[in-house]
Amino acid sequence: MSALTNTHDVLVRNLDLLQGRVALLGVSDPAVLSHCGTTGLAMSEHAGIFEVLARVPGWQACYGYDAHQLESAAYDTVVVFLPKARAELTLRLTMARYLGRAGARLVMIGEKKEGIAGGVKQFQAVAQDSAKVDSARHCQVWVGGNQQPLAEFEAADWVGWTDVDCAGVGCSVAGMPGVFSEGSLDDGTRLLLQTLAEIPLKADRILDFACGAGVIGAWLHAARAQSTRAGLVVDGVEVQAQAVMCAEATYGKAGVNGRIYPSDGLAGLEGRWQAVVSNPPFHSGVKTDTSMTEQFLREVAQHLEPGGELRLVANSFLPYESEIQRQIGAVEKLAQDRRFTVYRAFRRGGAGVLPIKKPLG
Ligand SMILES: C[S@@+](CC[C@H](N)C(=O)[O-])C[C@H]1O[C@@H](n2cnc3c(N)ncnc32)[C@H](O)[C@@H]1O
Repeated sequence: MSALTNTHDVLVRNLDLLQGRVALLGVSDPAVLSHCGTTGLAMSEHAGIFEVLARVPGWQACYGYDAHQLESAAYDTVVVFLPKARAELTLRLTMARYLGRAGARLVMIGEKKEGIAGGVKQFQAVAQDSAKVDSARHCQVWVGGNQQPLAEFEAADWVGWTDVDCAGVGCSVAGMPGVFSEGSLDDGTRLLLQTLAEIPLKADRILDFACGAGVIGAWLHAARAQSTRAGLVVDGVEVQAQAVMCAEATYGKAGVNGRIYPSDGLAGLEGRWQAVVSNPPFHSGVKTDTSMTEQFLREVAQHLEPGGELRLVANSFLPYESEIQRQIGAVEKLAQDRRFTVYRAFRRGGAGVLPIKKPLG
């Protein structure tokens, strides 16, 4: 059996903390459940992990912060694993206050390198008589009482809106704690949109892989509304629960025609699109990790119609060009600035390739 992650391993060292009905918020390794010696609620905001949790007998699984099916004040112990984004800790602690009964035990576990020391103030603000009870595997464990239980918890209350403008096309984008580039348009996404303004996709059915809060779909929809061509569909794939919620809100507000698929990569996705766009992930936690995007590149051709275009932006130092060439077809660099490159390739087997335009930027 593979080793647990440090934070989950430390929970297993402290099983005596788990009393009564237990809720675990932010599970990153489903294997931890079999060590707990109890059952309860397991929440993950990662679509792939959530799917595994949902198959564990005896446990109720929850995808992110959608608490509609969950009972308030129903748990005696609520464990909060420190999220990657500090802003998300307040959201997670608020969910913990909602799930825990008055006086329930709140437990916070996080790695030092992920900033547990910085999260302690937030924990102390909601947990009575908080104290550090363990320090091991580069992690700390904090315990306190649920002194401010909440009767209401609505994830939608955490959604905020940002107006984004690029190449003369504007749209409104939803954001939530932990969602990529909340409150601003990412520089890589901006460069991608600039190429889409200058060299539009010749497609009416588009897939946005790793769509985040749905900014690309909303922008494409707004750009298309300025043209005479109608009938655009932009579907999205996204792993993170808050981003899925935001993308649905963004699409709803803008009237984008398209569906958001909660999914870890393209696994389980069926169908082909005329074009795929992406600003794909390159982080896993705090580390650079290109494996998700490499897997996406290995699988994307089967979701592209022959001759269909892949348009992707990435940090220029990331080694995607040869993989795109191998999996899709000849690669062009449509734009490049100090940090990012926008690539395009047409899937082999289609009718002709569009002429190369002069790079932007
Ligand atoms: C660089 S961000 C781009 C977000 C959005 N397209 C934008 O331009 O603002 C990458 C996104 O990939 C998502 N992601 C990470 N791993 C994923 C996976 N395995 N499958 C699907 N999406 C993933 C992240 O949650 C994040 O929202």
